Amino acid sequence: MKKKLIAGNWKMNGSLAANEALVRAVVAGLPQAACKVAVCVPAPYLAQVQALCQGSALELGAQDVSRHEQGAFTGEVSAAMLADFGVRYAIVGHSERRQYHGETDELVAAKAQAALARGITPIACVGETLAEREAGQTEDVVRRQLAAVIDANRSRLGEIVVAYEPVWAIGTGRTATPEQAQQVHAALRAQLAAATPQPERIAILYGGSMNAANAASLLAQPDIDGGLIGGASLKAADFLQIIAAAG
Ligand code: PGA
Repeated sequence: MKKKLIAGNWKMNGSLAANEALVRAVVAGLPQAACKVAVCVPAPYLAQVQALCQGSALELGAQDVSRHEQGAFTGEVSAAMLADFGVRYAIVGHSERRQYHGETDELVAAKAQAALARGITPIACVGETLAEREAGQTEDVVRRQLAAVIDANRSRLGEIVVAYEPVWAIGTGRTATPEQAQQVHAALRAQLAAATPQPERIAILYGGSMNAANAASLLAQPDIDGGLIGGASLKAADFLQIIAAAG
């Protein structure tokens, strides 16, 4: 069985002092972990967290990456720069970036491509809004979002990670039920199966108010290969409990 992946998404949270305490506590609890664990941190803290992760199994991630290689793109961070700091994962297409920064399916797919070109695993996020779910459009929406990533990355599809994050569940305390999540994950797996010979190799994470209490039942679903954890990744004890649930 492939190892599950638990990835923390700190979003725009942290400080030098808070990061140090959090990462030290997570690293101290990791030797018991049977799954892969990463933290996706704000770009200014990559060097700090890289140093704190040294010699441990905790892997480093970023929350975004530019589609461009280099040049006059003020404020952007390239995949090569991330690779310089030992970054293994980059979230692309998080719903907060789609919503607040106007990121399109096409841009998200290009960002995934830019990450792969530098040996960084993109964690490509898909997910429907509450209005889309209520209109019965959930599978259409996530399929459209994933199709763009598939089309742009066919030859390297086996190297990506997908994260299903229903927008209505993010930061709201409202989690998809394990059955709701599994249904969408199965649809995503079927879509991947049509595009790559080994779809089971691609980890499909669930994200959206996953916490210490609900992680085990979500992670027990056959097509849920891990979690992308926001709020609960900021508390070492909670994050470690989720990691234990993935063991
Ligand atoms: P949440 O965030 O766990 O705080 O809901 C998940 C995410 O947005 O990645």
